[in-house]
Amino acid sequence: MRAAITAVGGYVPDKVLSNKDLEKLVDTSDEWIQSRTGIKERRVMAEGTATSDICVQAVNQILEKRGISATEIDLVIVATVTPDHVFPATANIVSDKIGATNAWGFDLSAACSGFLYALDTGAKFIESGKHKKVLVCGADKMSAIVNYEDRNTCVIFGDGGGAVLLEPCDDENGIIDSILKSDGSGRAFLHQKAGGSMHPPTHETIDAREHYVHQEGKTVFKFAVTNMAEVSRDIMDKNNLTGDDVDYLCAHQANLRIIDATARRMELDDEKVLINIERYGNTTAGTIPLLFWDFEKKFKKGDNIVLAAFGGGFTWGSVYLKWAYNS
Ligand code: ACO
Repeated sequence: MRAAITAVGGYVPDKVLSNKDLEKLVDTSDEWIQSRTGIKERRVMAEGTATSDICVQAVNQILEKRGISATEIDLVIVATVTPDHVFPATANIVSDKIGATNAWGFDLSAACSGFLYALDTGAKFIESGKHKKVLVCGADKMSAIVNYEDRNTCVIFGDGGGAVLLEPCDDENGIIDSILKSDGSGRAFLHQKAGGSMHPPTHETIDAREHYVHQEGKTVFKFAVTNMAEVSRDIMDKNNLTGDDVDYLCAHQANLRIIDATARRMELDDEKVLINIERYGNTTAGTIPLLFWDFEKKFKKGDNIVLAAFGGGFTWGSVYLKWAYNS
């Protein structure tokens, strides 16, 4: 039995933070940001809101579209690096807020690859026959951990995310294959130093600004280009797909140049490469479900779609699926 995505939802907050706005905060320019990343603006959540609020908005759209009650949900997985709290899991909070009283759930931390890891994990519970309805959310309130005095990172990240419903599928569509990878030695180049058990919060860690994202952009860029392109090519070769066979690439929206390199390696025409980085920036675990949300109307039943991501950890991977419905 296969697991198929049967509905998608998404959410970004209303407040826009443009490149021009950032020019007032740090020494940067709209031209620099657009030429290096492809980003024009990103969204920022209001104070007093959290990652669970992104998930709830997205999930409520799904429940309405499918005409189902939250009590029918078996499992909620939330991929995020910005959970509402260290514990309990954001998945529990989402379940409570939507009224999924029969579900269990957990959070999954794999940075920008989080949604792919969570999608593959959720699919296993459907394939095994254990569950019939699994919600997979990918969402991040990156503004909670971005230092708006650090031009290396504050221009990149934004807030937002989305969710998908996984259900059993008895035709040839659904999630077909995945290749997921990790290399913990990459942790030095992209991490949040303090706030965990290694460096619990103290006045010193706050003063040293160690609760914010630290990224060595050049090194991460190098690993991301190589690994995202390679793993996407690998999943095509493993499934005997040529560039002509692939209908769409939904790649993690970290940097337009990384996405371009991946598309070139896959030998894809430009119109097959879905892009929305210019509007939302890098929403970490949120980018791939936000692509589904924005481009759902393009997808036809049976379309071959390749998902690809690279992120902190390092983590990376690729998923091959056949879209399961016409909207
Ligand atoms: N505005 C102006 N100048 C800047 C800015 C900025 N916002 N940020 C950095 N610079 C400067 C640097 O200080 C450097 O100056 P120097 O040469 O005087 O030292 C210069 O611009 C060039 O910096 P580079 O780092 O070489 O710029 P690069 O072309 O590599 O682009 C970027 C930087 C966009 C961060 C790129 O490296 C990148 O996209 N990296 C990968 C990001 C990524 O994919 N992350 C993974 C996912 S994120 C996650 O998992 C949470």
